[in-house]
Amino acid sequence: MRILVIGSGGREHALAWAIARSERCDKLFVMPGNGGTAAFAENVICDITDHQAVIDFARRKAVDFVVIGPDAPAVAGLGDDVRAAGLLCFGPSRAAAQLEGSKAFTKALCDEAGVPTAAYGRFEAEVPALAFVRERGAPIVIKADGLAAGKGVTVAMTLAEAEDAVRDCFSGAFGASGSRVVIEEYLEGEEASIFALSDGENVVMLPSAQDHKRVWDGDRGPNTGGMGAYSPAPVMTPELTARVENEIIGPSIRRMAERGTPFTGVLYAGIMVTSSGPKLIEYNVRFGDPECQVLMLRLKSDALEMLERTARGQLAGYRPEFGDDAALTVVLATRGYPVDPGRGSEIVGADGLDGPDLMVFHAGTMRVGGRLLANGGRVLNVTALGATVTEAQARAYAAVDRIDWPEGFCRRDIGWRAVERERG
Ligand code: AMP
Ligand code: GLY
Repeated sequence: MRILVIGSGGREHALAWAIARSERCDKLFVMPGNGGTAAFAENVICDITDHQAVIDFARRKAVDFVVIGPDAPAVAGLGDDVRAAGLLCFGPSRAAAQLEGSKAFTKALCDEAGVPTAAYGRFEAEVPALAFVRERGAPIVIKADGLAAGKGVTVAMTLAEAEDAVRDCFSGAFGASGSRVVIEEYLEGEEASIFALSDGENVVMLPSAQDHKRVWDGDRGPNTGGMGAYSPAPVMTPELTARVENEIIGPSIRRMAERGTPFTGVLYAGIMVTSSGPKLIEYNVRFGDPECQVLMLRLKSDALEMLERTARGQLAGYRPEFGDDAALTVVLATRGYPVDPGRGSEIVGADGLDGPDLMVFHAGTMRVGGRLLANGGRVLNVTALGATVTEAQARAYAAVDRIDWPEGFCRRDIGWRAVERERG
């Protein structure tokens, strides 16, 4: 089979790496890929917002299967266009991708399907939004409606912060994404990322994960795309996982089908485990980045088969196998991330670390001559397996310490909640 993976991050490196291990993978393209995927796949430069150009490339190269990694092309309807061209595609339709593309859409779906989530109000003007915030008081959560590269959410602990966030949204800080604002009840609890495959009808739960969104140790500082992750998330007991499937994901998938916009692909539910049970924080319509990296390292089944069954509507009775080992990934980012990361600094020592228990997935790198250079904010994902999260953590940081990159930094406490639990 000839496969094209769309995207350039650590998630796509991990997906491509897992697909490449399949016996049925004959040829693998990554568009645009990065310095890591270049080592085993063919990176292709093409404007992925030009859907016809992507389709033309796929036809020219006799691609059988297109796998969409990130949210933006899914929300832009690349999946619809690729399928309309007669190609098999992993990834949701434009209509189903509204689960990530519009917070207001997801809130309405939760209402219709009876899915537990934070109480909310939806606003298209500043004055009523400010009035609502003042009535409810802090803590309270302000969200720009559309995609804002993970930056459109303010968890306001004070009223002043909340009011500033509302004003920011309506003054265009998030572009068109901020013209509609969802204001939510603050949920107290521990967060987990839950992933489920769906072919539109069937649901296949994948292992849980937890990521660290804040940039600094101790979960402090601004939100990022994710500074590290591990799987499984100990907070997700089998009982809670069953509740998430039965109360949140199952009803959402059924409702999407009833609406005539079935969801296919991987649904990523951000869950808050509150004292009154699991509640949905948000949906994403793709694998998490860096959560995907830990899931792919734990996956024992054929990744290509897993993705292909999802795309073909063949998930009934299918259960992918994941190893019992825990996995943990540490994100190495360029100094200045998430605000203003520089580019082009040299990374030494990241090659040759890979083994059965360790993979260095690349996120923002490029190879120039024989040198590996940083090419963005999140740059490397050092990902390790271990019998426990503690062991995986030690293995990952031992590898991190062998990488010589003065311009980079990482958190030193990835997995701390699980490590504390394991210590007992
Ligand atoms: P989101 O982009 O919706 O995932 O929000 C980013 C982060 O903000 C989440 O991962 C949570 O940590 C936090 N957050 C979002 N909504 C809430 C909420 N209703 N209550 C508490 N924290 C929230
Ligand atoms: N790790 C968070 C995300 O992928 O959105």
